[in-house]
Amino acid sequence: MTDVAHDLVIVANRLPVDRVIESDGTTTWRRSPGGLVSAIDPVMRAHDGVWIGWPGGTDQDLQPFEDDGLQLVPLSMTPEEIEEHYEGFSNGTLWPLYHDLVAKPEFHREWWDTYVKVNRRFAEKAAELAAKGATVWVHDYQLQLVPQFLRELRPDLRIGFYLHIPFPPGELFQQLPWRRQILEGLLGADLVGFQLPGAAQNFVRLVRQRVGHKTHRDLVYLPDGRTVRAAPFPISIDAAGFEDLARSDAVTKRAEAIREALGNPRKIFLGIDRLDYTKGIYARLRAFGELLRDGHLGVDDAVFVQVAVPSRERVEQYRLLRDEIDRLVGRLNGDLGRIGRPAISYLHTSYPREEMASLYRAADIMVVTPYRDGMNLVAKEYVACRIEDDGALVLSEFAGAADELRQAWLVNPYDMNGMKAALLEAYQAEPRELTKRMKAMRKQISQHDVKAWADSFMTELADDAHHSHSKTVR
Ligand code: F6P
Repeated sequence: MTDVAHDLVIVANRLPVDRVIESDGTTTWRRSPGGLVSAIDPVMRAHDGVWIGWPGGTDQDLQPFEDDGLQLVPLSMTPEEIEEHYEGFSNGTLWPLYHDLVAKPEFHREWWDTYVKVNRRFAEKAAELAAKGATVWVHDYQLQLVPQFLRELRPDLRIGFYLHIPFPPGELFQQLPWRRQILEGLLGADLVGFQLPGAAQNFVRLVRQRVGHKTHRDLVYLPDGRTVRAAPFPISIDAAGFEDLARSDAVTKRAEAIREALGNPRKIFLGIDRLDYTKGIYARLRAFGELLRDGHLGVDDAVFVQVAVPSRERVEQYRLLRDEIDRLVGRLNGDLGRIGRPAISYLHTSYPREEMASLYRAADIMVVTPYRDGMNLVAKEYVACRIEDDGALVLSEFAGAADELRQAWLVNPYDMNGMKAALLEAYQAEPRELTKRMKAMRKQISQHDVKAWADSFMTELADDAHHSHSKTVR
């Protein structure tokens, strides 16, 4: 397959599947966690592209292969690269820095050196696989230098970059010792996409201040005559796909079985997140616990189902978080639960789409309370699955999704009393109120699905090709 040149190359840190070695020594592939994979999968299918990414683990020399109709090219990482590029610079430096310093970022020169090395290797692989004049779409914070390296190798390509996480304001970004290199890395692209308008503006302002290029609105003018556009493209989900799944008999039955297994409480609260400190899991469970303790809710009437998907388990901050949540859930259940009626039903696992859709259908109140989140696709998935126009969404103002889902109960996750009040209001809301809100949110999601997102990015990327040479450089 590598001998063929491709018109669309997707470059992301992860492949859509992870290589898993079972206990009997056999190898299987499992879908990777996170919103990025769910979003790009349909784009790949529509454009018949090839996807370069790390398959998880440390296996070397894996060959390109096809999985479920997708052409995949695994790029191996050594244990040292995983530690320094993935766990280190990507998730110990950039992740907390780009998420409002929810945790303290660490700055290590060795991590940076490995980040550069791994980015270069991704760029080389993309250069090798792309046909003449092909489109290469690079994804996310782990690969911000790829556009620049790739352009040096293949100036004929159209290069798009999309950041799935927030891009911070200058006050935070400027802490990064390698701030200029990152900005220059991104400027290798023709189009740099962000979730929200504010992120694109942060980027353009930083480029002007730190790199000294001329800018006008969403355009950056480079000395070599090239123009780079920075614009928002709020990501979404396969809304129709989720809706169909939610309507299926299997999901309908499974949703009933879930309610039954939970003892048919009056209302089910639900949280589904990667187990990440940005997601505000601790705060929301505490808020729910206080509502029980204060007597506003009782364990016969309400239960909180929290699914925490294992993530980045070798990174210290994530280990600490897991221990904290384990302790909190244990304490809340010990203090507030009764036999057969735990306050929190806690599941540290990941589920396939069907089970997620069943949980969304079973839940009356979806609770999404990140301290900062690029978008948050779980909020959108919940809305898409509420085929009866009921159910309530409690959503953090600091999730990108809050810009679109204005009819949610919007909360500040740092404000414990505000969060308690919103949970209670959503719990007590009249059916008419719920329907009015949910209908409006469902309309928004069905009109702005992942296909619309990908189409608008790809169209803009292709479009720029027409204009970039005719634009006046100032
Ligand atoms: O959407 C943000 C993101 O970091 C993706 O880049 C990533 O694939 C996903 O979350 C899951 O994280 P990880 O790849 O570290 O397991």
